Amino acid sequence: MIKILLNPAQIVTVDTKSENFKRGTKLNEINPVSGHSIIIENDIIKDIIPNSSLKNLSSREIIDVKDKTILPGLVECHTHTAFAGSRADEFRMKIAGIHYEEIAAKGGGILSTVDAARKSSFEELVKIISPRIQYFISQGITTLEIKSGYGLDFENEMKLLHVINYLNEIFEIDIIPTFLGAHTFPPEFKRNHAAYVELIINKMIPHIAKNKLAVFCDAFCEKTAFTADEVELIFTKAAESGLGLKLHTEQFNNIGGLRVALQKNAVSVDHLEVLADEDIQSLANSDTVATLLPGVSFFLNYGYAPARKLIDSNAIISLSTDYNPGSSHIANLNFIMSLACLKMRMTIEESISAVTINAAKALNKNNEVGSIEPEKKADFAVLDTEEYADIVYQVGKNINIMTLKNGNIIYDKNGDSN
Ligand code: NIG
Ligand code: FE
Repeated sequence: MIKILLNPAQIVTVDTKSENFKRGTKLNEINPVSGHSIIIENDIIKDIIPNSSLKNLSSREIIDVKDKTILPGLVECHTHTAFAGSRADEFRMKIAGIHYEEIAAKGGGILSTVDAARKSSFEELVKIISPRIQYFISQGITTLEIKSGYGLDFENEMKLLHVINYLNEIFEIDIIPTFLGAHTFPPEFKRNHAAYVELIINKMIPHIAKNKLAVFCDAFCEKTAFTADEVELIFTKAAESGLGLKLHTEQFNNIGGLRVALQKNAVSVDHLEVLADEDIQSLANSDTVATLLPGVSFFLNYGYAPARKLIDSNAIISLSTDYNPGSSHIANLNFIMSLACLKMRMTIEESISAVTINAAKALNKNNEVGSIEPEKKADFAVLDTEEYADIVYQVGKNINIMTLKNGNIIYDKNGDSN
């Protein structure tokens, strides 16, 4: 079946000339074209051709996108969407000036969500998480990473991973499961960290690998969570078991996480708000994606990651919401792009590369999605504007009106969605 996305005002191709990622100055090259249409064959982009060479329109399925802007389907590469409960009470405390780490040290923070997640059944979790996924889809997101990390024991971590895998079955978009058993130490192991690390290594990771429950293994390297040595042990086992590696690191303290992640060739290092100047070049020289999460800096009201220095040093940058109940209760990716531009001095074009091709690279999906190039998946966001800058300029407003995944319309604001 051939479909045509006919005559949009602009197609922002984020063309990579088949390189499939963008570092440094290349982030600015998003290659918008006008006067073209996109030919889709089944689930694949066949071609991007000038409107003047379109023929045989009558035998094709036409999707009229006149006056609209087409972007590659957006990629959300770091979320904690699989949470239960609310931390509105902590939000109040935060507004009153109490620090995130102080709340965590008192047994609040991540552990209060762990309590809520453990008490929720598989069915309850599916019910509360589904509308969140629908909201991501309504923004034009067609690839979405979701972490576990609120179970923190064998049974509940596996429950969360099963929920995420089930959601991947029932939603049309690609949902990528990440195992985050090393999010923090659960209360049962508060005084025996080594035993929890052993549980992750000897029981959780083997089970996950055997049953293909996750694609990535993530961890939180931080004073209130895991040391660099503990992360190294976990990463060694995860890599041996075939899982890709991601790391929450240099968020509040610089305790050696980045070094371990780079040594282990992690796919991404995420946060980096306190990244040291002397570590910028080694990260920039690597193929590891620096995933920046400016929603966290905004939500917790502290410093932003050094996006400008990283890009100017030739790093591969991606952006994500880090959607979670405690440090970034923000699910609008376009708001994150606005923050990146306004607070981290990224350009509009850089922010677009960062939520498309480079976010796809942060999920090892960049050969398949993240740019509008022939042979890639026919995944698109259709924006209700003739000017792509509006995705950043219309701060906090969702201007996506149609989402296509694998060539199918899966969200249509003005029509029936299917
Ligand atoms: O990415 N840094 C650790 N984990 C999450 C926060 C999760 C939570 O507070 O529930 C983050 O910021
Ligand atoms: Fe996170």
